[in-house]
Amino acid sequence: MKNKIQKNGAMDFHVLPPHGLLNDPNGLVHFNGLTHVFFQWNTEGTDHSYKAWGHAVTEDFVHYTYYEPALLPDEPYDKNGCYSGSALVHEGKLYLFYTGNVKNEEGERESYQCAAVSEDGFTFRKLGPVIGEVPGYTAHVRDPKVFRGENGEFYMVLGAQREDLTGDTILYRSKDLKNWQFLGSLLTKREDLGYMWECPDLVRLGEKDVFLFSPQGLQEDGHRFRNIFQTGYYTGRFESERFQKDENFFDELDRGFEFYAPQTFDMPDGRVLLFGWMGTMEKEKEEALPTLKDGWVHHLSIPRELQVNAEGKVMQSPVSELLRFFREENTVSGKDLKIGREGSFLLEVLNENEAQRIHLRVSSDVELKLEDHWFTVERVSWLDGKKEIRQVPLPRGLRNLKIIGDHTSLEIFINGGEEVFSLRCFEDSSDSMVSLLSSETVTLKISGFQKG
Ligand code: FRU
Repeated sequence: MKNKIQKNGAMDFHVLPPHGLLNDPNGLVHFNGLTHVFFQWNTEGTDHSYKAWGHAVTEDFVHYTYYEPALLPDEPYDKNGCYSGSALVHEGKLYLFYTGNVKNEEGERESYQCAAVSEDGFTFRKLGPVIGEVPGYTAHVRDPKVFRGENGEFYMVLGAQREDLTGDTILYRSKDLKNWQFLGSLLTKREDLGYMWECPDLVRLGEKDVFLFSPQGLQEDGHRFRNIFQTGYYTGRFESERFQKDENFFDELDRGFEFYAPQTFDMPDGRVLLFGWMGTMEKEKEEALPTLKDGWVHHLSIPRELQVNAEGKVMQSPVSELLRFFREENTVSGKDLKIGREGSFLLEVLNENEAQRIHLRVSSDVELKLEDHWFTVERVSWLDGKKEIRQVPLPRGLRNLKIIGDHTSLEIFINGGEEVFSLRCFEDSSDSMVSLLSSETVTLKISGFQKG
């Protein structure tokens, strides 16, 4: 059994690094009654130079116990980082699959897809590489997501870069988790979308299969793709060992400023949950994060419950376990409202009268606006004090908003999870008044977080 480690008390219900830097969620899995959340962790500093697998477990998505890292980069095949990957329970054991990142003597990258196994879910024995070089692809092959197919065989999807330096996702099959057969590109039709696809994931939601991935190198396109890297999905059908995508375009999963590299997993009650990384790869912003002075950077999103609506859109709502920890404190109705808040909170807006214009000031740094069927999040950047905006059209208006705040983060869920915005904000903590102006009467509700 591994030793517990002291957790970082800077947030109430988010997974954050005990110290150092956290990036992608890894190996999300429910095993022997506990949910295990692994994550990319630099235990040595707040940059990306060292990557181990951090480890936290929870029963309620609020209280997390942290353990010593599950995987350290201490073998020749993973010496420059135990990169992202996933978990799978097989014959009562917990298997992890991850990418061994290696810089060889010539300074070139090598990638190995590796496995590790555990009986108790805490101590892992490395099994070494199961996949090496991939013909037709560069050494940018990583982030194995392993799942059981309907035929009982195992499949692995991997983020990859073709030799012509375009992004792709490839598929492998195995009967025993050791021997893996290369099946080629996951998609039936080539899609040209950036130079590298990271963190692919394939999940069944109701009648749809959803292929999630994080492409790098997309050009900004109006209100879309405004962050350095993107995360989004195609819906379609995984059949005959290929993903046949629907006739839809790549849709972003989160419209906010800080969201990347999510991963899904199944809960025993049938829910599909997702955690994402609430960080940024923008170096300037990363190196100016106000939490650096406290020795840590970045955290995971809260877990979200996923569903697909009738139009094939992925709907995301805050995990129900977490919502139970908020107690209603104050509800007001009108067109010009003010409501106090303290500590972590759930703020809800109900737009019963279909107001077309709403301005909501959540903090000194963040304002939300509904105008002409566009929803806008305005944030004052911690980097230079300038206003940054992210937007999405809401052709059918705004019906409701749920905003979850935890010290330095906001997660905004619109119309029952049709759109989501995730962002960091570092407001002055003395400012705890929320104010709202709207064209029609709306209801504003504040609930405080109670950990006990
Ligand atoms: C995504 C990513 C993955 C990689 C990991 C390394 O944020 O670049 O592709 O495995 O981070 O930390």
